[in-house]
Amino acid sequence: MAAELIDGKLLAQEMKAELKEQVSKLRDKGIIPGLGVILVGDNPASKSYVTSKEKACEKIGIFSDDTRLPEDVSEEDLLRHVERMNSDDNIHGILVQLPLPKHIDENRIINAINPHKDVDGFHPVSVGKMILGQDTFLPCTPHGCLKLLERYDVKTEGAEVVVIGRSNIVGKPVANLLMRKDKPGNSTVTVCHTRTRKEDLLAHTKNADIIIVASGFPNTLTSDMVKEDVVVIDVGINRVVDSSRERGYRLIGDADFESLKDKVRKITPVPGGVGPMTITMLLFNTVKSAQNTIK
Ligand code: GUN
Repeated sequence: MAAELIDGKLLAQEMKAELKEQVSKLRDKGIIPGLGVILVGDNPASKSYVTSKEKACEKIGIFSDDTRLPEDVSEEDLLRHVERMNSDDNIHGILVQLPLPKHIDENRIINAINPHKDVDGFHPVSVGKMILGQDTFLPCTPHGCLKLLERYDVKTEGAEVVVIGRSNIVGKPVANLLMRKDKPGNSTVTVCHTRTRKEDLLAHTKNADIIIVASGFPNTLTSDMVKEDVVVIDVGINRVVDSSRERGYRLIGDADFESLKDKVRKITPVPGGVGPMTITMLLFNTVKSAQNTIK
């Protein structure tokens, strides 16, 4: 049977309409939510993500302070930009697009962001609070995955969840969020990664009620690896050459959508699944940060 599509584009649209109203209320109070965006170098995928984030801000009335720095910028110069944004009261959220060039210590940059403006939820204080269940900015992609599960009535309590991938940005936080004593949450979570034995990966995915694929590689999950009533959340965004497209490539996820869509219960498409939700949760955190200034 054909799977139900989990439509991230639609949920993102609904949430953005709601956020737009909240921005309008803040503007009535004289507060214009501001997002400071720093992009280093000219990685095409990063450039495209940052442009999408800034466009989304503009559409709902968030002001974005766009700083583009050359690939060879020094760590000290980059830190100065972060500090400038930390002390600018018009900037409520700071986003440093990752990955950063190899000569820059990513941890040093993330640690320099004021946790009150950490709308990416990457600072150790934000991560610690998230794990402890304290109020904080949740990382955007994992938070977006949770919103999709909630909206599409996917029961997480007691569910066997398999996360494929252990990155700081997706795998680790989404696994933590789903094991929390909260709703959504209360899942039994297994994290598989590049060192998981192939036969073990198969045993875990075959037993899973929900699979979150965030490996960074196409075709990590195929239809022979899952049972029929599984829900698949595909976090991957991979560019593959496609000469039939004007831009010369198309986007595919980490899961083999074509084979899975006729077997599983629910699945997110790529594009139009998790991607739009990541951007929306960034807007959500920026609005929350601006609201925090009047509390
Ligand atoms: N690189 C890939 N995903 C993200 C994200 O959510 N935030 C930032 N800052 N960089 C990223």
